[in-house]
Amino acid sequence: MDFTGKRIVLGVSGSIAAYKTPLLVREIIRRGGSVRVILTPSAAKFVSSLALQNLTKASVIVEMFDTSVQSGGSWHIHLAQECDAMIIAPASAATLARLATGLCDSALIAVAVSLPQEIPLLVAPAMDSDMWRHPTTQRNIKQIKADGAIIIQPDKGELASGLYGVGRLPETDVLANALANALSSSGSISRTETHYVSDEIVSMYAEKSSNPLQESVERDIWNVEMALEELKNSATDKRSTENNTHISLAELPVFRGKNVLITAGPTYEKIDDVRFIGNFSSGKMGFALAEAARTAGANVTLIAGPTQLATPEGVQRIDVVSAAEMFAVAAEHFQTADCAVLAAAVADFTPAEVSSGKLKKEALGEEVTLRLLRSPDILATLGKRKTGRQVVIGFALEAENEIENGRKKLHNKNADMIIVNSAAKPGSGFQGDDNTVVIISKFAADRPLPRMSKRECAAEIIKYAAELFG
Ligand code: CTP
Repeated sequence: MDFTGKRIVLGVSGSIAAYKTPLLVREIIRRGGSVRVILTPSAAKFVSSLALQNLTKASVIVEMFDTSVQSGGSWHIHLAQECDAMIIAPASAATLARLATGLCDSALIAVAVSLPQEIPLLVAPAMDSDMWRHPTTQRNIKQIKADGAIIIQPDKGELASGLYGVGRLPETDVLANALANALSSSGSISRTETHYVSDEIVSMYAEKSSNPLQESVERDIWNVEMALEELKNSATDKRSTENNTHISLAELPVFRGKNVLITAGPTYEKIDDVRFIGNFSSGKMGFALAEAARTAGANVTLIAGPTQLATPEGVQRIDVVSAAEMFAVAAEHFQTADCAVLAAAVADFTPAEVSSGKLKKEALGEEVTLRLLRSPDILATLGKRKTGRQVVIGFALEAENEIENGRKKLHNKNADMIIVNSAAKPGSGFQGDDNTVVIISKFAADRPLPRMSKRECAAEIIKYAAELFG
């Protein structure tokens, strides 16, 4: 689930697990959200506020009265009012005690207590298992739950003390998913109703935490270092897209009510009834584009070649098999389309003759020559047919001279925009979940995007496509 446009306050308190928080920050940002971090003074001993500041591109609040990072006396009220959710991870035993009693002697608790009832508050305790089991901690947890916070139960596993038991901060994906669930149900659930992550989910993740202590600490540190490195790189690469990433798709009025046609996936060209010529396209990019265009308010028709992917909600899907079928359906729907995004990996050639039944080896002999004919080029045809009010966007999968070849396709196929991706680079092209593209258009300078998930990439493409309607 993504956090596009969501503003998250992350409170970090003094538990050794605080050193894992850059991973959570990275995950929220990766899914499109923004994060403001508040550290308790003891958390600042376990995690670098400078690192968190770099990751979040915002000052990190530690002291209640530090005027260099806050302006105005009511900053805690504004922060609490303006966020979409707050998560305290890790929450130490002391922070739980403060939260349970409303003791606002730190910036973190001051914000947590100022949070309006309809804004979800998630609390992920992490401590040694004896501290976790202590009656005072359990009493505080019960109180915090009764006050409407969502408790993310700690995992079982090796603890910093060297002991084994309950108390580990759950994995980043568990925290991020709990946050996403809370955001998707906020508005329908008020904080006065008690809700928390089920014990089954917690024990499912607890199963995973049985590595020896040394190994698990090393793995965590390695993950944090990798995440920091990746974020550092993407922060540099992202400069060219900075103006775009903070806009949410729902804020793009241009696509509202527009008819958007998208082709996705491979095509299969029949040789006989059991064999075909195809390619390795997964369809993920086209499906992500359909989802993004739908989120932006468009009426989306997704023409999909053979793929097992689920249809994005609210999207009209038409399944086809061959290039000829995809062409016929696309040409028909283009008449009423405002925008066409041709993301399918259409087979360029199709067998001249299709045999019925199954061709037998004995009858074919030792060598076979297949006569292939060029299949219709959907992008080039729609590019030729487009009127002044229609926008046509294509892809270019290139193994070399990527930009130059992409530019040729932009011109030859009369497209308004071409998304160039490399067949040679890792993190680009077919099958994977990520893509690394360069957007080229007739109207703007080339826009290289850093490696990102196909869903994020689709959102970026739709945002840039909105400019074409201007
Ligand atoms: N395309 C299409 N119909 C085809 C072939 C390609 O609509 N018969 C579209 C693709 O969906 C993509 C763009 O054209 O948007 C470029 O596809 P690509 O495979 O990169 O290039 P080709 O035009 O097929 O040329 P080549 O394979 O020689 O690079």
